[in-house]
Order: sequence, then structure tokens, then C-alpha cells
Amino acid sequence: MPNTQSIPGNGHATSEVQEPRIVGFFCTWCTYLAADLAGTSRIKYAPNVRVVRVMCSGRIDPQFVLAAFANGADGVLIGGCHPGDCHYQEGNYNCLRRARLLKRVLQQLGIEEERFRVEWISAAEGDRVRVVINDMVEKLRALGPLSMKKEMPLVTIVSQEHAQEEVCV
Ligand code: FES
Repeated sequence: MPNTQSIPGNGHATSEVQEPRIVGFFCTWCTYLAADLAGTSRIKYAPNVRVVRVMCSGRIDPQFVLAAFANGADGVLIGGCHPGDCHYQEGNYNCLRRARLLKRVLQQLGIEEERFRVEWISAAEGDRVRVVINDMVEKLRALGPLSMKKEMPLVTIVSQEHAQEEVCV
């Protein structure tokens, strides 16, 4: 169900503006805790992100990102530990390498680069969560909903193939 917002009109009708939907893959040791800290500190940020908690940013298979886009996300945000702080030593470096390749794939699919973002946010940086999410939502609002009808079959095939695989940690 799309996340929509009513805009007051002339009193006779309201127009519906679709709010950007973002899937956030957050590392449980840092960005997930930062988002939690933001919540407990009553730091307000746009409610457009649905968070998927992962053990490490290095756990994020590029196909997770493609599947998110294929299933209606307008943007994908990866949050991981700062370089040198990964609990699994180099998971975030692996994440960064994959993200660089993935950006090129997304570009080929016609998906604007602002729709996919990787950020290093430590557990203490609750306010950084607000800044990053609000900034991303603003950029996605300007872009509008993701329209990828031509490319959808490829992304769908990739994500369906992945869905049939067994996921191992
Ligand atoms: S444990 Fe957080 S990015 Fe690896």
C-alpha cells in the first residue's frame, strides 16, 4: 500500500502525493543503534524508511538492493560502521566495493544515483541518522517515484532468482 499524503486543495478535492519509500539496511552494531538513539532522544526524522536490520553491512548482497527496487522502493539506504570499526574487520570495505559495482548496474538500469546511498553512521550519531534520512527523502521527493517499467523485467528476474536461493549468514 503506497505511503500517501493528502494535500489540501480548494476545499472540493484533495490531490494525492506519493511519499518516497526507502528501504534501509542498517548494521545492528552502529546505524541501527544510532536510529534507536535518535528515537530515544526524540530526534525527529522523516518516517519514510523501513529498516531491515543486518549483522554487518558486508552481509548485504547486491541482490537485496535490486529486490527492494523491484518491489517498490524509491530509494535504498545502507548504513554501516565507519571504516576501521566493523565488528567483522572488513565487512564494510566489502560493502563499499559491492556498492561501487552496484551503482554502475543501477545506472545501466536507469536508476538515478541519488536513489542508492551508503553511509557510515556510528551508534553515537543519532542526529546523523536524521540528517541523512531527511536529505535523502528531500532528494527523492524532487525525483518523484521510481519509474522503471522498461527495466523491471531484468530486476524482477534477478530478485526472483535470489528468492529461490537459500540465504546463509
Ligand atoms: S559490523 Fe557494522 S559494518 Fe560490519
